[in-house]
Amino acid sequence: MKILVTGGLGFIGSHTVVELQNSGYEVIIIDNCSNSSTDVIKGIVSITGKQPIFEQFDLREKNKVDDFFSRHTDIEGVIHFAASKAVGESVEKPLLYYENNIATLVYILQHLSLKASSSFIFSSSCTVYGQADELPITENAPVKIAESPYGNTKQIGEEIIQDTCKVTPNLKAIALRYFNPIGAHPSAEIGELPIGVPQNLIPYITQTAIGLREQLSVFGNDYPTSDGTCIRDYIHVVDLAKAHVVALQRLLEDKNSTNYEVFNVGTGTGSSVLEVIKSFEKVSEEKLNYKIVNRREGDITAAYADTTKANHELGWQAKSSLDDALSSAWKWEKKVRT
Ligand code: WQD
Repeated sequence: MKILVTGGLGFIGSHTVVELQNSGYEVIIIDNCSNSSTDVIKGIVSITGKQPIFEQFDLREKNKVDDFFSRHTDIEGVIHFAASKAVGESVEKPLLYYENNIATLVYILQHLSLKASSSFIFSSSCTVYGQADELPITENAPVKIAESPYGNTKQIGEEIIQDTCKVTPNLKAIALRYFNPIGAHPSAEIGELPIGVPQNLIPYITQTAIGLREQLSVFGNDYPTSDGTCIRDYIHVVDLAKAHVVALQRLLEDKNSTNYEVFNVGTGTGSSVLEVIKSFEKVSEEKLNYKIVNRREGDITAAYADTTKANHELGWQAKSSLDDALSSAWKWEKKVRT
């Protein structure tokens, strides 16, 4: 059974390709390599021994999307990762984000809507909740006004899919709202490859520990939390990847309750920045150089998932601890820098 993974050379995409192949699916990847490298294919093959089909083009080129689907009529499911995802960049370049994250989604859905049956998994984000009123966050929590064009593209994306599914019974879709994906495959053959200065906490920590960055800045310790630093739900990227496979299987096996569903994908546990630093120092046996600075614009105080729905309906649960995830991130950083 052939599954299309757009953005399959990216951080979460590549880990999902591995889990799909391990589950016996034939994978075809589309990636424009704007934020990834074809070296990732070697890493995937070294883990699974299976070569995914790979086509490099930009999904914004509609004629190429049309040509692709005219050549691949046997695609049973699509997992759509391809998108721009830097919150700060989205504020500076909104039109880039609306074109890259929305137009491409429409082009893909136009093709899937024509098929007798299709299964679609959408890469969404807990960012749609903003600062939720209640914690842990359930899927019924209200979607808040987006704090960035990036977050808005995730909200709009979900609405486009929902509206399409309403009038396209043969299209089945699931939106997975990720919390904070971290870590790397335990083999250290694939992992996160941020380009330039990392925006996210974990790669900044590992790059500081390896000596690539001078010092980690902790963005604020005056939040209303136990130690004053922000709380997030850090989920191992392999656990997240596995959630995509079980979500896809739910659709392929017609186990879905409606043809559009939403699931939170997190661990259900919140960790503060200082707790993450403490955990990292423990697993790496490295003393991390950090300082407390002012808050970062746009940061929310706390977000962690209520995972009851995914546990019960997907039969999925995150297995790895924060220590496991940080240990795998550190192993990967050391591998990449040698
Ligand atoms: C986590 C915590 C920072 C860097 C973002 C996107 C979200 C998703 C994941 C795509 C916060 C603190 C960070 C640093 C720090 N991306 N921090 N120093 O902001 O929760 O989520 O990435 O889907 O959509 O919004 O993740 O890793 O940037 O920050 O103190 O150098 O670490 O303040 O509290 P975030 P993050």
